[in-house]
Amino acid sequence: MTARIISVCNYKGGAGKSTIAVNLACALQSSLGSGCLLVDADRQGTALRWSGSGKLTVKVVDRVLHEAREDDRYPGMLWITQIKMLAEKHPYIVIDMPPGLQFSLAAVTAVSDLILIPVNPSGIDFHSTAHFITLIKKSRKVRASDKPGCLIVPNRLDRRTTVARNLSLYEQFEEPIAPPIGMRTAFAYAFDHGQWIGDFAPGTPAHREIQQLVDAIDGVALA
Ligand SMILES: Nc1ncnc2c1ncn2[C@@H]1O[C@H](COP(=O)(O)OP(=O)(O)OP(=O)(O)O)[C@@H](O)[C@H]1O
Ligand SMILES: [Mg+2]
Repeated sequence: MTARIISVCNYKGGAGKSTIAVNLACALQSSLGSGCLLVDADRQGTALRWSGSGKLTVKVVDRVLHEAREDDRYPGMLWITQIKMLAEKHPYIVIDMPPGLQFSLAAVTAVSDLILIPVNPSGIDFHSTAHFITLIKKSRKVRASDKPGCLIVPNRLDRRTTVARNLSLYEQFEEPIAPPIGMRTAFAYAFDHGQWIGDFAPGTPAHREIQQLVDAIDGVALA
């Protein structure tokens, strides 16, 4: 896999960042055997709390990214250094980002190899996603590279609604779109039990969807 630092980020609160970050990190850990670290960058500490059970299969540390000031020329500089130090010791890092960042998003696009953007199939977060993807494309120019890669992850897909039409909304970004993750209560129960979905409900559709996400990440080619 080319992506070593994977951030799960978008502006919208409650889109499923922590759910995806925790389950993805554990799925990666299980396919790699070891070497994955989950970083909680959100002061809400959802991922840290999840790991408080002692049952997660991945180590979690916190490195909180705060919002920068508008006139800050190098937003999140110290945080970037902290993440790079962790990356020296861990082959794979998954970062659970906070919602609502604006100026500090530059730090996320600067340090990440790949950014996963959980989106609501209803398109309610369309405009904030569009803004973020513009920043990602700009960052590639500055870095003179394909990085950060980007993978849009439709989350909480409810097949009873007319989601197919709405998902096509995200195609105009011309960025890869991962197989959708369904609306599955198992994710919430797994959190309540302090487990990842692969331990809590192995072999279920929810588990398979996380596995498909790992495969989709593997398929994002980065130079
Ligand atoms: N695919 C899903 N199916 C069912 N429930 C989900 C799914 N994804 C997330 N949830 C639930 O939605 C709620 C919010 O999810 P989560 O905490 O992962 O979002 P978040 O983007 O990290 O939120 P925040 O912006 O506050 O950090 C949680 O109760 C979680 O269990
Ligand atoms: Mg969260």
